Amino acid sequence: MLVKPARARASALFRATFGVPPVAAASAPGRVNLIGEHTDYNGGPVLPIALAQRTVVAAGPGEPGVLEAVSERDGRVWRHLYKEGRAADWPAYVAGVVAEMQSAGLLAWDAGVRVAVASDVPVGAGLSSSAALTVAATRALLGLARGRLTPRQIAGVAYRAEHNYVGVRCGVMDQTIAALGKPGHALLIESASLETKQIPFHGRLLLVDTGVRHDLAVSAFNQRRAECEAAVARLQLDLPEVMWLATWPMSWLGRLRRALPQPLRNRALHVVGETARTRFAAQLLARGRLQRFGELLYESHESCRRLYECSAPELDTVVAAAKRAGAWGARLTGAGWGGAVLVLTGKGNREKGEAAVVASIRRAFLKAYGREPAISVVRTGGGARAERV
Ligand code: GLA
Repeated sequence: MLVKPARARASALFRATFGVPPVAAASAPGRVNLIGEHTDYNGGPVLPIALAQRTVVAAGPGEPGVLEAVSERDGRVWRHLYKEGRAADWPAYVAGVVAEMQSAGLLAWDAGVRVAVASDVPVGAGLSSSAALTVAATRALLGLARGRLTPRQIAGVAYRAEHNYVGVRCGVMDQTIAALGKPGHALLIESASLETKQIPFHGRLLLVDTGVRHDLAVSAFNQRRAECEAAVARLQLDLPEVMWLATWPMSWLGRLRRALPQPLRNRALHVVGETARTRFAAQLLARGRLQRFGELLYESHESCRRLYECSAPELDTVVAAAKRAGAWGARLTGAGWGGAVLVLTGKGNREKGEAAVVASIRRAFLKAYGREPAISVVRTGGGARAERV
């Protein structure tokens, strides 16, 4: 069966729901993070790529003071009155964007908004469907309001929407890559300075979705972030000006170990190690040293599992099976506690090697959990853009 592109589906859904065509539409991609996990909100580097799968938001004006939102996913029309406080469920992400745009003077305080959403980004798989939604919504609402923002500013609005309104204390990675991604490239983002660098990516990646779903807002994510902040507060006794865990010097690991009780010690060791690993990985990638790059992916997974404790047995099963079959690298991607594993199979692709990796993962997963995980080849995409309506 031929599935219509998300752009056409969003427009059609808008018309069918509201009886008029949308005025503006925009899309933004999901992402996979190659390496640099739980470093962004600690002021460290991340290295994501934008996916070909996108979320499309079609928008039009509505009744003043009201947000109406419909998504092909639940098919329900949500109606939210701004004066009633926070919106519920997924429309909270869009309401957050509306609120941020209002406080930035980009939308009138009572601007009525209608949106229809269609998406090819799976939800809860660690591919940042939420940033794809908030970034696409920001871009679409800008189109509606005839406003202009740079891609970085769009990422900023989307980030604050998730932070301030939805209450997920995420870092800047997801919105930044959704706004700035470039096909065929990974983006090195230094989260503290927001310096970025596009690095060509020629590897062959598989995505193994374990089917284990997490909800960021209720998962251990905010708890981990609080642990990192507690670690910084203690470390300031030794280094009063340390603002971010990621800036702690590698040469002072002994001091860090002595200063911190568990579990803060392990969390901090992960962040400091992952920061160094990610910068090294970016250099290797720039030099085309993919195989060595892959080894760092395994190290990163191990650190996430053992020190940051954000893995899950299903993720570990996949990584171990990929390793046994000779994949160059594999690790959980995104926040963890479920979701997907990224597997770097090699360079050439379609060789026997990749088939062996896939077979090994399927076998191990089936044996452990009685079902097969969904495995797909990663295709890269570009950042947010306006779409035809
Ligand atoms: C989530 C957050 C990101 C980042 C990752 C973990 O995806 O939204 O900002 O912190 O988890 O690396």
